[in-house]
Amino acid sequence: MERSLIILKPDAVQRGLSGEIIARFEKKGLKIIGMKMMSLDSALLQGHYEEHVNKPFYEGLEKFMKSSPVIAFALEGVDCVSSIRVILGATNPREADAGTIRGDMAMDTGRNLVHASDSAESGVTEVARFFSDDELFEYHKSEYLHVYESFES
Ligand code: RTP
Ligand code: MG
Repeated sequence: MERSLIILKPDAVQRGLSGEIIARFEKKGLKIIGMKMMSLDSALLQGHYEEHVNKPFYEGLEKFMKSSPVIAFALEGVDCVSSIRVILGATNPREADAGTIRGDMAMDTGRNLVHASDSAESGVTEVARFFSDDELFEYHKSEYLHVYESFES
Protein backbone atom coordinates (compact mmCIF):
# COMPACT_ATOMS: atom_id res chain seq x y z
CA MET A 1 0.00 0.00 0.00
CA GLU A 2 1.49 3.39 -0.99
CA ARG A 3 1.91 6.32 1.37
CA SER A 4 2.05 10.06 0.72
CA LEU A 5 3.10 12.93 2.96
CA ILE A 6 0.70 15.84 2.74
CA ILE A 7 1.57 19.28 4.11
CA LEU A 8 -1.08 21.98 4.39
CA LYS A 9 1.22 24.92 3.83
CA PRO A 10 0.96 28.23 5.76
CA ASP A 11 -1.39 29.70 3.14
CA ALA A 12 -3.88 26.84 3.64
CA VAL A 13 -3.78 27.26 7.42
CA GLN A 14 -3.98 31.07 7.28
CA ARG A 15 -6.84 31.08 4.74
CA GLY A 16 -8.90 28.62 6.76
CA LEU A 17 -8.91 26.02 3.99
CA SER A 18 -7.53 23.09 6.02
CA GLY A 19 -10.88 21.44 6.60
CA GLU A 20 -11.96 21.71 2.97
CA ILE A 21 -8.67 20.26 1.73
CA ILE A 22 -8.70 17.39 4.24
CA ALA A 23 -12.31 16.64 3.28
CA ARG A 24 -11.32 16.14 -0.37
CA PHE A 25 -8.83 13.42 0.60
CA GLU A 26 -11.30 11.78 2.98
CA LYS A 27 -14.05 11.75 0.35
CA LYS A 28 -11.68 10.07 -2.11
CA GLY A 29 -11.45 7.12 0.27
CA LEU A 30 -7.87 7.65 1.47
CA LYS A 31 -6.87 6.60 4.97
CA ILE A 32 -5.27 9.16 7.32
CA ILE A 33 -2.58 7.26 9.24
CA GLY A 34 -1.04 10.22 11.12
CA MET A 35 -1.67 13.97 11.52
CA LYS A 36 -0.17 16.90 13.44
CA MET A 37 0.33 20.67 13.48
CA MET A 38 3.98 21.67 13.52
CA SER A 39 6.41 24.52 12.85
CA LEU A 40 9.04 23.68 10.25
CA ASP A 41 12.70 24.58 10.76
CA SER A 42 15.48 25.12 8.21
CA ALA A 43 17.05 21.68 8.70
CA LEU A 44 13.80 19.82 8.11
CA LEU A 45 12.93 21.98 5.09
CA GLN A 46 16.37 21.59 3.52
CA GLY A 47 16.00 17.82 3.75
CA HIS A 48 12.44 17.87 2.48
CA TYR A 49 13.21 20.23 -0.42
CA GLU A 50 16.71 18.84 -1.11
CA GLU A 51 16.18 18.91 -4.90
CA HIS A 52 15.31 22.63 -4.74
CA VAL A 53 17.85 23.94 -2.20
CA ASN A 54 20.12 25.51 -4.82
CA LYS A 55 17.32 26.99 -6.94
CA PRO A 56 16.63 30.74 -6.99
CA PHE A 57 13.18 30.36 -5.43
CA TYR A 58 14.40 28.29 -2.46
CA GLU A 59 15.09 31.18 -0.06
CA GLY A 60 11.55 32.52 -0.52
CA LEU A 61 10.10 29.01 -0.28
CA GLU A 62 11.86 28.32 3.03
CA LYS A 63 10.86 31.70 4.48
CA PHE A 64 7.24 31.07 3.47
CA MET A 65 7.15 27.52 4.86
CA LYS A 66 8.42 28.86 8.22
CA SER A 67 5.96 31.78 8.28
CA SER A 68 3.28 29.97 10.30
CA PRO A 69 2.52 26.44 11.50
CA VAL A 70 1.57 23.81 8.95
CA ILE A 71 -0.58 20.69 9.25
CA ALA A 72 1.23 17.54 8.18
CA PHE A 73 -0.50 14.24 7.60
CA ALA A 74 0.20 10.88 6.09
CA LEU A 75 -2.23 9.19 3.71
CA GLU A 76 -2.37 5.56 2.70
CA GLY A 77 -4.18 3.91 -0.21
CA VAL A 78 -3.76 1.54 -3.14
CA ASP A 79 -1.53 3.27 -5.74
CA CYS A 80 -2.43 6.51 -3.98
CA VAL A 81 0.59 8.72 -4.81
CA SER A 82 -0.37 9.56 -8.39
CA SER A 83 -4.09 9.93 -7.64
CA ILE A 84 -3.29 12.38 -4.83
CA ARG A 85 -1.19 14.46 -7.27
CA VAL A 86 -4.22 14.55 -9.60
CA ILE A 87 -6.36 15.89 -6.73
CA LEU A 88 -3.72 18.60 -6.05
CA GLY A 89 -3.46 19.86 -9.65
CA ALA A 90 -0.47 21.44 -11.38
CA THR A 91 2.30 23.14 -9.37
CA ASN A 92 1.29 26.48 -10.94
CA PRO A 93 -2.31 26.96 -9.78
CA ARG A 94 -3.10 29.19 -12.76
CA GLU A 95 -2.49 26.15 -14.98
CA ALA A 96 -4.22 23.67 -12.68
CA ASP A 97 -7.45 22.03 -13.85
CA ALA A 98 -10.74 23.20 -12.36
CA GLY A 99 -11.87 20.69 -9.76
CA THR A 100 -8.37 20.29 -8.31
CA ILE A 101 -7.37 21.87 -4.99
CA ARG A 102 -4.90 24.26 -6.62
CA GLY A 103 -7.16 24.92 -9.61
CA ASP A 104 -10.11 25.80 -7.40
CA MET A 105 -8.47 27.63 -4.50
CA ALA A 106 -5.07 29.11 -5.45
CA MET A 107 -3.49 31.63 -7.84
CA ASP A 108 0.32 31.52 -7.40
CA THR A 109 3.07 28.86 -7.58
CA GLY A 110 4.55 30.18 -4.34
CA ARG A 111 1.15 29.97 -2.62
CA ASN A 112 -0.12 26.62 -3.90
CA LEU A 113 -1.59 25.46 -0.57
CA VAL A 114 -0.47 21.86 -0.30
CA HIS A 115 2.46 19.51 -0.74
CA ALA A 116 2.14 15.85 -1.67
CA SER A 117 4.84 13.24 -2.27
CA ASP A 118 5.74 12.79 -5.95
CA SER A 119 6.61 9.07 -6.04
CA ALA A 120 6.01 5.93 -3.99
CA GLU A 121 9.66 6.06 -2.86
CA SER A 122 9.46 9.70 -1.74
CA GLY A 123 6.19 8.92 0.03
CA VAL A 124 7.96 6.39 2.26
CA THR A 125 10.97 8.68 2.84
CA GLU A 126 8.90 11.81 3.53
CA VAL A 127 6.44 10.14 5.91
CA ALA A 128 9.42 8.80 7.87
CA ARG A 129 11.04 12.26 7.88
CA PHE A 130 7.96 13.92 9.39
CA PHE A 131 6.51 11.18 11.61
CA SER A 132 8.01 8.86 14.18
CA ASP A 133 6.70 5.29 14.30
CA ASP A 134 4.57 6.02 17.36
CA GLU A 135 2.83 8.89 15.52
CA LEU A 136 1.58 6.55 12.77
CA PHE A 137 -1.47 4.33 13.17
CA GLU A 138 -2.44 0.98 11.72
CA TYR A 139 -6.18 0.42 11.88
CA HIS A 140 -9.03 -1.17 10.03
CA LYS A 141 -11.10 1.24 7.93
CA SER A 142 -14.59 -0.21 7.69
CA GLU A 143 -15.45 1.72 4.51
CA TYR A 144 -12.76 -0.11 2.49
CA LEU A 145 -15.40 -2.71 1.61
CA HIS A 146 -17.15 0.08 -0.29
CA VAL A 147 -14.07 1.94 -1.58
CA TYR A 148 -12.17 -0.96 -3.20
CA GLU A 149 -13.71 -3.80 -5.18
CA SER A 150 -11.05 -6.18 -3.97
CA PHE A 151 -8.87 -4.91 -1.19
CA GLU A 152 -5.28 -5.75 -2.03
CA SER A 153 -3.47 -5.95 1.28
P1 RTP B 1 5.22 20.30 -3.70
O1 RTP B 1 6.60 19.66 -3.71
O2 RTP B 1 5.12 21.49 -2.76
O3 RTP B 1 4.14 19.30 -3.52
O4 RTP B 1 4.93 20.94 -5.12
P2 RTP B 1 5.26 20.32 -6.53
O5 RTP B 1 5.84 18.95 -6.41
O6 RTP B 1 4.05 20.49 -7.35
O7 RTP B 1 6.37 21.33 -7.03
P3 RTP B 1 7.94 21.25 -6.91
O8 RTP B 1 8.52 21.39 -8.27
O9 RTP B 1 8.39 20.10 -6.07
O10 RTP B 1 8.25 22.60 -6.13
C1 RTP B 1 8.14 22.65 -4.72
C2 RTP B 1 7.50 23.95 -4.32
O11 RTP B 1 8.41 25.00 -4.55
C3 RTP B 1 7.70 26.17 -4.91
N1 RTP B 1 8.14 26.59 -6.23
N2 RTP B 1 8.30 27.84 -6.55
N3 RTP B 1 8.83 30.22 -7.96
C4 RTP B 1 9.01 29.05 -8.56
O12 RTP B 1 9.43 28.95 -9.72
C5 RTP B 1 8.72 27.84 -7.82
N4 RTP B 1 8.83 26.62 -8.29
C6 RTP B 1 8.45 25.83 -7.27
C7 RTP B 1 6.22 25.81 -4.93
O13 RTP B 1 5.66 26.13 -3.66
C8 RTP B 1 6.25 24.31 -5.11
O14 RTP B 1 5.09 23.73 -4.61
MG1 MG C 1 7.49 18.47 -5.17
